[in-house]
Amino acid sequence: MTDAFSLSGRVALVTGGASGIGGGIAEMLGEAGAIVVIADIDEAHAAQAAEALRAAGCEAGHIQLNVADEASVQRGCAEVVKHYGTPWALVNNAGLQDRQLLLDGTVAEWDRVMTVNARGPFLMSREVARAMVAGGNGGRIIHIASAALIGALTQGHAIYASSKAALLGLTRASALELVGHNITVNTILPGGVATPGAIAAQGPAPEGPGRRMPPLGMCSPRDIGAAVLFLASPAAAKVTNQNFAVDGGWSIT
Ligand SMILES: NC(=O)c1ccc[n+]([C@@H]2O[C@H](COP(=O)([O-])OP(=O)(O)OC[C@H]3O[C@@H](n4cnc5c(N)ncnc54)[C@H](O)[C@@H]3O)[C@@H](O)[C@H]2O)c1
Repeated sequence: MTDAFSLSGRVALVTGGASGIGGGIAEMLGEAGAIVVIADIDEAHAAQAAEALRAAGCEAGHIQLNVADEASVQRGCAEVVKHYGTPWALVNNAGLQDRQLLLDGTVAEWDRVMTVNARGPFLMSREVARAMVAGGNGGRIIHIASAALIGALTQGHAIYASSKAALLGLTRASALELVGHNITVNTILPGGVATPGAIAAQGPAPEGPGRRMPPLGMCSPRDIGAAVLFLASPAAAKVTNQNFAVDGGWSIT
């Protein structure tokens, strides 16, 4: 690997890294030399995922936190800085993807999804960016939204798509505020990935145009991780405020 894609010695904090897409992101960053810290609400699976990364020869640790809870985020991020050092990269991947039809929509579901999918990345970005600014070495913030924002939808995504759309606004606004600190902010929009969370998602059958197979096939967690690696790497030093779909060509069908 050229140095342009090396993350050797740099700390990468991956929320939701205990499962699915976050696992593929953690693998790709770890293989590029990063010290990967998996931050997940599920401590047992986070510990297992970190152990698997170490067994594969990567540097990795884990931390339990709830991205939706301000005190938990503050405690968790302080712990990461203390034990591993200031993160170079933050990947806001943790998210909920249950479906609820608009006509059945409840405020309780709106609040549940929004607190994890939108408030979570806001809190994590604020907390980690404060440490990055104090550290003075720049950094990378990468959000995981959804290709549902630019491609075809399935039914039941009124709340989910709204929560992911919040990340596009967060990307633009924080990219402007952080650019003077050499911190870039970008968003990946994954297409369908067969993860534990996607398979177990609750709600009505996912009917609609978004059910069709992408021409290049379904993405794997590592396909998403590869795009995250680019954005986290020195090679992407001049890339900020971009929304980048990794969807197997879904958006052209
Ligand atoms: N799988 C897909 O088809 C798909 C497509 C587009 C976007 N996405 C997005 O990718 C991300 C990862 O999805 P996935 O399919 O791998 O999901 P997943 O459910 O398999 O994994 C999500 C991880 O996030 C953790 N998590 C959930 N709530 C948390 C919280 N409050 N605090 C900390 N950790 C929390 C879970 O414990 C789990 O380890 C999500 O943001 C999802 O919306 C997924």
